[in-house]
Amino acid sequence: MRAVVCREWMPFDELELGELPVPEMRAGAVRIRIDACGISFATGLVVQGKYQRKPPRPFAPGTEVVGTVIECADDVSRCKVSDLVMAFIDWGGSATEAVVWEGQAYQVPEGLSAVDAIPLLSSYGTSYGALVERAELKAGQTVLVHGAGGGVGLSAVEIAKDIGATVIARAGTEEKRDWVRQRGADHVLDSRDPDFRDTVLDLTDGRGVDVVYDPLGGDVFHQSLRCMDMGGRLLTIGYASGDIPQLGINLLLLKNITVMGFNWGTYWGWTPADERVRLTPERDRVMAGLNDLWARGAIQPKIHATYPLAQFRELWADIKERRAVGRVVLLPQE
Ligand SMILES: NC(=O)c1ccc[n+]([C@@H]2O[C@H](COP(=O)([O-])OP(=O)(O)OC[C@H]3O[C@@H](n4cnc5c(N)ncnc54)[C@H](OP(=O)(O)O)[C@@H]3O)[C@@H](O)[C@H]2O)c1
Repeated sequence: MRAVVCREWMPFDELELGELPVPEMRAGAVRIRIDACGISFATGLVVQGKYQRKPPRPFAPGTEVVGTVIECADDVSRCKVSDLVMAFIDWGGSATEAVVWEGQAYQVPEGLSAVDAIPLLSSYGTSYGALVERAELKAGQTVLVHGAGGGVGLSAVEIAKDIGATVIARAGTEEKRDWVRQRGADHVLDSRDPDFRDTVLDLTDGRGVDVVYDPLGGDVFHQSLRCMDMGGRLLTIGYASGDIPQLGINLLLLKNITVMGFNWGTYWGWTPADERVRLTPERDRVMAGLNDLWARGAIQPKIHATYPLAQFRELWADIKERRAVGRVVLLPQE
């Protein structure tokens, strides 16, 4: 089958378009024709061998897929041929077909296209798990969202607003800031200005925020710790700055604050222990929460652009140059 192929660890835009064997069918699985594949910052780490998970090479990168079921194993009960499903897979998304355990194939909600379902599955899943399940953000609290024009940041803004929180959001282009404002952020800051601590303290009457959503790491993490209210929770989501910060934990004691991690991939089997079966109730709960957000019209998944498979390098430029507002999506059938 046609695929973007990673044979050696290398930057995403140096990969080649090529052929890989069609994946074999197995018990409990469905075969899907992949209609859309989400590519993100993290995909670029995977193909360089810099991600916590290292697929066996050669492989097709891409873990967020939406597609049509074209074959079901005899023992499958959750899906049927022609269903439109979304799934986080181990790898193999930038190809025409994938074989997926039925337990991780979720029906795309009514009214959502294959392309628009990509951010729902991945970015919104991450932010819902982080803000609702981990940080337990409440109405009336204040949240600081970094990388707010990007995939996970934008979804965090919308989910926080739906909860009833006040949102302070940082983004790096006027186009991103406009969209973040439209989606309800109360205060929007330019992230190209590296200093935000004093502004955030001013906006919160000197108290600081209750929750920080941090997909960036580096100095952003350190400054964020210094504009949090007592009882505040900092969610460490990723390290798009390229710097994984180190922390002297005495600061947590002195300020009565918490740093907490959230990894959506854990719910889908991306840890050495592969807990996808055990964590089915948790995954189902988040997916039900996302369906509800969509059904109530509380969210508007934002697609920056779509690209046919052969234009994966053009797609990558949107991510690398930090211009994508929302998500970029690869179309393996085109
Ligand atoms: N924990 C989880 O389960 C989970 C799930 C999904 C993603 N993630 C992680 O979250 C992070 C963001 O993912 P995403 O899909 O939202 O990516 P994205 O759409 O590319 O957005 C990332 C944002 O980070 C900022 N950024 C990018 N490079 C930067 C740099 N060198 N220095 C400072 N800021 C930079 C940009 O914001 P501005 O330029 O506008 O400031 C960009 O909009 C990644 O590290 C990813 O691995 C974690």
